[in-house]
Parts: sequence; C-alpha cells; structure tokens
Amino acid sequence: MKRVSASAIRSASSLLARHLHAGAGSKKIVGVFYKANEYASMNPNFVGCVEGSLGIRDWLESQGHQYIVTDDKEGPNCELEKHIPDLHVLISTPFHPAYVTAERIKKAKNLQLLLTAGIGSDHIDLKAAAEAGLTVAEVTGSNVVSVAEDELMRILILVRNFLPGYHQAISGEWNVAAIAHRAYDLEGKTVGTVGAGRIGRLLLQRLKPFNSNLLYHDRIKMDSELEKQTGAKFEEDLDAMLPKCDIIVINTPLTEKTKGMFDKNKIAKLKRGVLIVNNARGAIMDTQAVADACSSGHVAGYSGDVWFPQPAPKDHPWRYMPNHAMTPHISGTTIDAQLRYAAGVKDMLDKYFKGEEFPAQNYIVKEGELAPQYR
Ligand SMILES: NC(=O)c1ccc[n+]([C@@H]2O[C@H](COP(=O)([O-])OP(=O)(O)OC[C@H]3O[C@@H](n4cnc5c(N)ncnc54)[C@H](O)[C@@H]3O)[C@@H](O)[C@H]2O)c1
Repeated sequence: MKRVSASAIRSASSLLARHLHAGAGSKKIVGVFYKANEYASMNPNFVGCVEGSLGIRDWLESQGHQYIVTDDKEGPNCELEKHIPDLHVLISTPFHPAYVTAERIKKAKNLQLLLTAGIGSDHIDLKAAAEAGLTVAEVTGSNVVSVAEDELMRILILVRNFLPGYHQAISGEWNVAAIAHRAYDLEGKTVGTVGAGRIGRLLLQRLKPFNSNLLYHDRIKMDSELEKQTGAKFEEDLDAMLPKCDIIVINTPLTEKTKGMFDKNKIAKLKRGVLIVNNARGAIMDTQAVADACSSGHVAGYSGDVWFPQPAPKDHPWRYMPNHAMTPHISGTTIDAQLRYAAGVKDMLDKYFKGEEFPAQNYIVKEGELAPQYR
C-alpha cells in the first residue's frame, strides 16, 4: 500500500495527464475478444465474441467514437499493437486475455481506461497501470452465478468419476468396474473453498443441500448470519484446513500473494486422493506441481477452466495429466453472463463519457491505488 502510494505521488504528473475524464471529442476504443467464426450467427445474444462486439458498436459510433475489435493480441505485429499508441480505452476479457504489460502501457500515451468485460484483471500489470494513472475497472458480480454453478458441476464430475464413463459410452465400451472403483457420493465429504467472496459464497450456498462438511479460508471472516446460512466453518489458517478436505475449490483472485500459492509444498499438505477444482486462475497453481501430483495419485482429480497462458499451448502439461476434467476458459462466459458484462461495460463507458463515477466495487485501480485485495 505504501509503495503504491509513494509511486502514485511520483507519477503525479501522469495522474493529472490521464485523469479519468473522457473530455470532449471522439474516443478510440479497442476491444479484444475471442473470435466466434461459424458460431457467431447461431445466437443473437452471443455478444461476448469479436463478431458480437458486446453489442455496443452502433451506440458508440452514433456518438462519434471509433470502435475497433479484434482477437489478434499477441506479438509485435498483432492488430492490438497497432492501436496501442493512440487508443483511449481498452476493453479486454479474461476469456481471451490481452496481456497489458508495463511496456504496452508505456507506449499507450492516450490510454485512460482499461475495462475488463468479466471479472479478474490479472492480465493487466496493475502496478504499472496505477503508476501511469490509469483506471482499471471490471464488471464485478457479472458472472459469479455462472462460475459457481460450473464449479458445482466440476465437483460432481470428479467425485462421481463421470468422464471415463462418458468416454466408454462414445467408444462402444461397457466396464462398470473401471468407473465404480473410484466413484463416491458428495454427501459426507469435506469441501473447502480457498476464497469465499462472491463466487465462493454462492458455491457454499449451492453445496449446502448436499449435506457435505463445508469449510472456507479467506482474508476476511464472513458475517455470522452468512456463516449460519451456508453452514460453512471459517479456517483462519489455510495450512490447517488443507489436510481436512476431500475437495478443494480455489476462489481467490490472482494477486502477488496467490500467484503460485499451490506449489509442491502446499499440495503435499493436501490429503492423498484430494480433488481440486480451480476456476479462479491457472497461475495460482504451480503447473508442473499439479501435473506431478495427478501422475503420482496424490491428487485424484483436477478440474478447471483456467490456464496460464491462455489460450493454453498444445503441449501444456495439464492437457496430458491423468484424471483431469479441464476445459477452455468458459465458465464465466455463458450467454447470460455475456449479456450482464456487456451491459456493465456499456454502463461504465457511458459514465466515462459523462465524467461520472463507476459503481465503487468495480474499481481495481483508481487514482494510483490498487483495490485492497490486490495490494
Ligand atoms: N473462470 C471464470 O470464468 C471466472 C469468472 C469470474 C471470476 N473468476 C475468478 O474468480 C476470482 C474470484 O471472483 P469473485 O467474484 O468471487 O471475487 P471476490 O473479490 O468477490 O472474492 C475474492 C475473495 O478472495 C479473498 N482473497 C483475496 N486474496 C486472498 C488471499 N491471499 N488469501 C485468502 N483469501 C483471499 C477475498 O477476501 C475475497 O473474499 C476472480 O478474481 C477471478 O480471478 C473466474
């Protein structure tokens, strides 16, 4: 906190230069999303892709703004790089992250606002953004139900050993024993969430009817009413919670404190045969440590939709480890979620043009300060 404040003072001139007022005139807004190709026309509400462009093109252009949308985000000659020197606003999304490095921020002389269509702005160098006086905001809460539902599905897929059965069905096999020898009920098992913010709490609420034992670790204890409602017990010491859990779910943001948090040593503290669900961020895990623990059987199953980097390269070890149920980054980009984060982005752009404040919970970087959990 001290360091950020000091650097904020050092960069007072850039803060003044980039203070969040759209000012008069046309703005150049660039959006980086995943491309939908043949799927784009299959659903009129598919707004989260390049083709859908969050459904804000007509609105932006009718006000005289320029709106460029691309999926081409990597390398010195990519489309995004061409617009870095003169864009005012960059809209990016965790599903197809445009990595906003300190180098890109330095080149982006007109940049004022970085908006995340979704939740999780770790693809942005937040310290560099703070030092440059940029505002970073996301659509807080926009896809928390989508992710919590998906986590519940992944828990059940792992606990019931579902995927080998599906593979048998499509490959003409029939071998009940090959599935049943490691399939369990969720009832009576201990589930611990690391992080009990918006998603973690929704997951705990959804888990309650399964009659499992629910634990949570967080920087902050929930209020007692919510604890009573979910039946979850607070574990202040993460290392004390880990060996108690049959299933661990990760629900913290990726920060300097959580990056690589689940390394070889942390994983060794988990019960042998533990199942892990991680829809938070791939880089919270040590990639190789997870692959090794799945190979040795210490981790009996791993499922999630987040990887590092994204898109995951073809040789990413998680593609090949045993007993995984990985997918591309999909949980927070259901059609319902897309409509919510598109509306949230539009609302913030509208406020930016009018010089109004965003909802307080949306700010990740504001006036040289990072949001508390990122410090
Ligand atoms: N896969 C997806 O599609 C998807 C979609 C949305 C969000 N996410 C990820 O999920 C994360 C959580 O989202 P949310 O809406 O629940 O956020 P949130 O801010 O509501 O909750 C995060 C919780 O983590 C806790 N926390 C932060 N740092 C911690 C630490 N070092 N130790 C213990 N607890 C810590 C916070 O206190 C907070 O309660 C996002 O940051 C994002 O990375 C993924």
